[in-house]
Amino acid sequence: VNQGNGVKGLSEMGLKALPKQYIQPLEERFSEKKIVPHESIPIIDMSKWDDPEVAKSICDAAEMWGFFQVVNHRVPLQVLDRVKAATHRFFGLSAAEKNKYSKELSPSNNVRFGTSFNTQAEKALEWKDYLSLFYVSDDEASALWPPACKDEVLEYTKSSEVLIKQLLKVLMKGLKVEGTDEAKEALLMGSVRTNLNYYPICPNPELTVGVGRHSDVSTLTILLQDDIGGLYVRGNDGESWIHVPPISGSLVINIGDALQIMSNGKYRSVEHCVIANGSSNRISVPIFINPRPQDTIVKVSSWSNGYGVAKASVMASSDDCQVDLVVLDWVI
Ligand code: SIN
Ligand code: FE2
Repeated sequence: VNQGNGVKGLSEMGLKALPKQYIQPLEERFSEKKIVPHESIPIIDMSKWDDPEVAKSICDAAEMWGFFQVVNHRVPLQVLDRVKAATHRFFGLSAAEKNKYSKELSPSNNVRFGTSFNTQAEKALEWKDYLSLFYVSDDEASALWPPACKDEVLEYTKSSEVLIKQLLKVLMKGLKVEGTDEAKEALLMGSVRTNLNYYPICPNPELTVGVGRHSDVSTLTILLQDDIGGLYVRGNDGESWIHVPPISGSLVINIGDALQIMSNGKYRSVEHCVIANGSSNRISVPIFINPRPQDTIVKVSSWSNGYGVAKASVMASSDDCQVDLVVLDWVI
């Protein structure tokens, strides 16, 4: 019996075959034939933080690939190591401890342990467990986030703020958006969610996925991955897959749907996926920067043609609300 210990529990039962709920339809499985072996997303050295050349590389990467890696990004490497250790510590807890944060038992909607292990679900499941932490305040995090990881996740989330603000500043400059940094941050950085992902060893990795192909709804996503690998990004032809190799100390940055929409498609929100792995457990820790609390921009209600946008009104929605929000003046 799995005893509610998520996909990790299934993995540790030593199953010889993948349970059928996890078998993905053929078209959703990952095809190794589509990997472009020598292609790579840009790796940007940010040590010259304010250098126009660095800014150009960031904007070019956002336009061409929608994905890039950054090194010398000013998030201390010990902070990254600590949050990786904390992720292992959390998923190493007993089923009962982790399930204190399940949908049914969690003290708050802002804290959620989840897994694809759900026999009621109709669609094929993904081979992954996660803990999702929506940041409201230090006090709330301190009171409600799991003690096994809360200090480290909070430290990582806060330490990455300088990098996030710098990236947004550079990307907005690339669009020639007017207004103060504060006003842009208020719009683009309305909320922050940090997830801890755990992808256990899978008995038939070729039949399922860690995470199926998707694009992020965020403004921007910052991702810390361990040294296992398995994240693939769509190539420019819309067909091929490009591996995002683990680079020690790096962070993976990708543009989300909200920023693609707000930039009129200049910056691209690109599809990606994570394969299941037959020999290693993998973790990753993404931080999702979203436009405003619980809002996701889904539809632009008035753009002018091309990039010449001034005063756009954007519809935003999420699971629990639907709102209008007015974008700053965009002078491009
Ligand atoms: C995701 O995009 O949902 C996860 C990415 C990763 O684990 O590398
Ligand atoms: Fe993603």
